[in-house]
Amino acid sequence: MIISEEKFTHLYGERSGTTCFMRSFSDSPHQAEVLFRLDRLGKRLGGLAVMVIGCSTGQEVYSYALMCEANGFKDYTTEGCDVNSTAITCAHKGACHLNWEGPDVFDTFAIPKELYRIEGKAPDESRDFRKVTIADHVRAHTQFFQHDISLEPLPKTYDVVACNNTLPQPQRGERDAAVQNVVSAVKPEGFIISNHGYLFPKYIVQKHFLR
Ligand SMILES: C[S@@+](CC[C@H](N)C(=O)[O-])C[C@H]1O[C@@H](n2cnc3c(N)ncnc32)[C@H](O)[C@@H]1O
Repeated sequence: MIISEEKFTHLYGERSGTTCFMRSFSDSPHQAEVLFRLDRLGKRLGGLAVMVIGCSTGQEVYSYALMCEANGFKDYTTEGCDVNSTAITCAHKGACHLNWEGPDVFDTFAIPKELYRIEGKAPDESRDFRKVTIADHVRAHTQFFQHDISLEPLPKTYDVVACNNTLPQPQRGERDAAVQNVVSAVKPEGFIISNHGYLFPKYIVQKHFLR
């Protein structure tokens, strides 16, 4: 759905989107196997560049960095962009919180405890909301910037482009342009990780989607 500038300011001024740690991998654990455990990309590439489009407050970006560290990647960058500047400010600060994924998610993916810290007392509610601090040397591999993927392509290309739960939201630009801009962000041999496969042309799904 295309929306006016006024409606856009209203929507995106208030809303930062909701996300959680290990978002891509919890929904589809085999993606983690392919990307990290079998060292498929690590063997092939000198460095690994990851982009999360629609990163919200940054948990997915930090998750990729934690997975890279836990699986022995040294030369990697994990970046995130979002149309919402408030979300990007939170992501930059590393002001992430646990959400519905819960604190065990790091153990599930064998993330060493020295790479993150969970502060505060566990609440009783279903959403956790405790603060998570990522180790500085891991954060040093991350970057965040504001960008609207429905209006402009990204300035560089990546080995892995994740775009989950983002494109079906109301957009300022055409949905087809947004899809094309996601595609143009991936390197020729790279992967797209997205739960919006139905929006992409079939040949892109066959060539770039993990299955
Ligand atoms: C529901 S959240 C999902 C966050 C995360 N990707 C996940 O799956 O948990 C959607 C995010 O996409 C962002 N977004 C929506 N349209 C976008 C666009 N055209 N360009 C960049 N970010 C966008 C929103 O601001 C919001 O933070």
